[in-house]
Amino acid sequence: MTNDRVRPAVLVSRRLPSAAMEMLTARADLDVWDGPGAMPRAELLARAAGKDGLVVLLTERIDGELLDAAGPQLRVVANYAVGYDNVDVAECSRRGIAVTNTPDVLTEATADLTWALLLACGRRIAEGDRWLRARRPWIWAPEFLLGVELRGRALGIVGFGRIGQAVARRAPGFGMTVLYTAAHRLEAARERELGVAWRDLDALLAEADVVSLHVPLRPETRHLIDAARLRRMKPGAILLNTARGPLVDEAALASALQAGELFAAGLDVFEREPEVHPDLLDCDNATLVPHLGSATVETRTAMGLRAAENLLAALDGRRPPHLVNDPGGPALRGQG
Ligand code: GLV
Ligand code: GLV
Repeated sequence: MTNDRVRPAVLVSRRLPSAAMEMLTARADLDVWDGPGAMPRAELLARAAGKDGLVVLLTERIDGELLDAAGPQLRVVANYAVGYDNVDVAECSRRGIAVTNTPDVLTEATADLTWALLLACGRRIAEGDRWLRARRPWIWAPEFLLGVELRGRALGIVGFGRIGQAVARRAPGFGMTVLYTAAHRLEAARERELGVAWRDLDALLAEADVVSLHVPLRPETRHLIDAARLRRMKPGAILLNTARGPLVDEAALASALQAGELFAAGLDVFEREPEVHPDLLDCDNATLVPHLGSATVETRTAMGLRAAENLLAALDGRRPPHLVNDPGGPALRGQG
């Protein structure tokens, strides 16, 4: 964009932390949805029309219909998330639209939240909290609300990208050993350095005391953890999901929890967010939090700045720092 051109029109599908809003306001004409909830689909379709760029959240589905509604001047979809399963990336690429995400800045926060869930599951923190809030009688007792120890147990990490590795780095502090599964196995020297051992998924499920999911949602990872895979897990194991809800068959998980086949599950994400499967809500051994993986002041601000930086780069005809597709020349059609 050059100075003699009008400022680009940008739809922001939910107000971002103020530092990001300031960065965007300085450079673009913003149309901002202030919530409280997600933009209704009809509103999103109507307000995308004529925009040069969109800053969207994982609650917005960006598909052919939306791109048609936006119109041919749309150059960039800046997703305010590391995951971008809400975006039809192939369709964006076909139309020369850049798609960007916000990696790295949320890695540590998400790894921390994963460990928070692990500790909460192992030591029945949420259950104890519910007990007190229900004003149920209690007394210190030798076998009251007993959990499990982590020391000496095996943590199985499914998907060994940035977040999976950050989860692994915390394991030695708790005396846990680490197994991982990933399509691309690390070099042996790197495995030794990290103190991790590779297994295929089924071997990992059979061996791990705690299984934590860190793969993106794709057609081939939907229900990666289904009834059969849950049965492969060790009796008394813990399942953690801070990645995407549809990786797990929630109905099958609730059955396994109710039957006591698993000790517990810690879930930050759900199959049909913001809905939570009613059977999970009835499981005392499920610790459930409302998609808080990246929810710290620092991280959400950094994600906002990253999304703004990506958007503005694309609108300037530069390559966005966190481009996830290869829109080719046409994506940079604002150039020159
Ligand atoms: C949140 O779930 C993200 O993908 O950043
Ligand atoms: C995925 O993008 C990750 O950061 O692990």
